[in-house]
Amino acid sequence: MRDIVRYLGIDTRAQLLAERLWQYLDEPSSGIIAAFLRHTRQSAVGGLLDDPIIERLMAEQKEHWCSLFNSGFDEAYQRRATLIGIRHRELGLDSKWYIAAHASIKARFAEELLLRTKFPLPLKSALLVTLEKYAAVDLAIVLSSYSSWLAD
Ligand code: HEM
Repeated sequence: MRDIVRYLGIDTRAQLLAERLWQYLDEPSSGIIAAFLRHTRQSAVGGLLDDPIIERLMAEQKEHWCSLFNSGFDEAYQRRATLIGIRHRELGLDSKWYIAAHASIKARFAEELLLRTKFPLPLKSALLVTLEKYAAVDLAIVLSSYSSWLAD
């Protein structure tokens, strides 16, 4: 994982940008996650979701995005990301659904940033690049745990 972080050029500056990104996304993320869960419930994998699970996932997903952007990829974050892959796999949620879900939430975060902030363009661009890089690390860890948990 450290190699991927280095490869993506995530350094101290990127960590500061990620924290700044979450300061902005913290509030709108609740509505974005709620809309995502409503939409997912109507989809072909919606049978996995019921009201109590949705309530739990509202909190757990928000906590996950928060720790992605603020933890510096610490052990607690890595454990959480690994558990997501394991849990989804246990549930029989194919990784293609996870990839699509991840992309749709990331796209909504990007829209918030691009359309609803008045940051100068260079800062918007730096925050968008940071979003892409952090989302890539997150996806990489979860997808690795999808495929490797049986071997571990
Ligand atoms: C970006 C996309 C997603 C994120 C960040 C995410 C995150 C999480 C997290 C943090 C957990 C708890 C894992 C644990 O046990 O520690 C979880 C479980 C679960 N996820 Fe996802 N998930 C995503 C996509 C999906 C999709 C597309 C579905 C499809 C229905 C789904 C269904 C579930 C279900 C049913 C559980 C178990 C909930 C429970 O029993 O409490 N997730 N997910």
